[in-house]
Amino acid sequence: MQIDVFTLLPHAFGWLTEQRPLAAVLGRELDLRLFSYRDTTPLRAGQVDDEPYGGGAGMVLRVDVVATALDAVYGSVPEHRVVALTPQGRQLDQALVEELAAEERLTLLSARFEGFDERIVSHLASDAISIGPYVLSGGELPAMVLIDAVARRLPGALGSEQSGRVESFSEELGGGLEYPQYTRPAEYGGWRVPDVLLSGDHGRIDEWRREQSRTRSAA
Ligand SMILES: C[S@@+](CC[C@H](N)C(=O)[O-])C[C@H]1O[C@@H](n2cnc3c(N)ncnc32)[C@H](O)[C@@H]1O
Repeated sequence: MQIDVFTLLPHAFGWLTEQRPLAAVLGRELDLRLFSYRDTTPLRAGQVDDEPYGGGAGMVLRVDVVATALDAVYGSVPEHRVVALTPQGRQLDQALVEELAAEERLTLLSARFEGFDERIVSHLASDAISIGPYVLSGGELPAMVLIDAVARRLPGALGSEQSGRVESFSEELGGGLEYPQYTRPAEYGGWRVPDVLLSGDHGRIDEWRREQSRTRSAA
């Protein structure tokens, strides 16, 4: 899979690319490319945004700047999905993550300040996606959230095949929440791990976990 990110802050992605699971799939299942709008802007002095028509605070990312950036990389508006990251978009959930992970190519458009000139969302992007009903200062964190969620669905991303198959929102748990997890010590300050998990009876453990998952998901 290839993911291209257009941003004003390509260096912000350095941290993400060093972490698993992304690091495990980079250069194999995932090719991640970062592009700065400033490198291709047709405006002088690296300008990429402008004041909003009609007045108001902040600066708006220009449509000509984004169109030129897409042209420079693809020759035109690409045929694959181009996602504008915006709090006004379709909310990201696991079903959408699975859908995006099945794509061969994906382009993410990130903005800052007041956001996109609306023509970017309506004419250059195919999708508008939000990572939640709150406003962040820029699209870099949303892009990283989306990339991380997609990357862990790619083959080889997770150490064990089990982790990722049975986790919150997975088909295996009927789209519900994962059961509680415990590790050593078996008792800490009077807080005991449920006896069933220490029983060694994998049938009972599986049953208990599914019941816990159902209870949590219904709450
Ligand atoms: C300060 S926000 C702009 C908010 C915009 N003026 C509004 O009220 O809808 C700047 C940029 O951060 C990104 N962003 C902020 N919150 C986001 C969210 N919840 N999901 C996805 N992108 C977000 C988008 O790229 C957005 O254009």
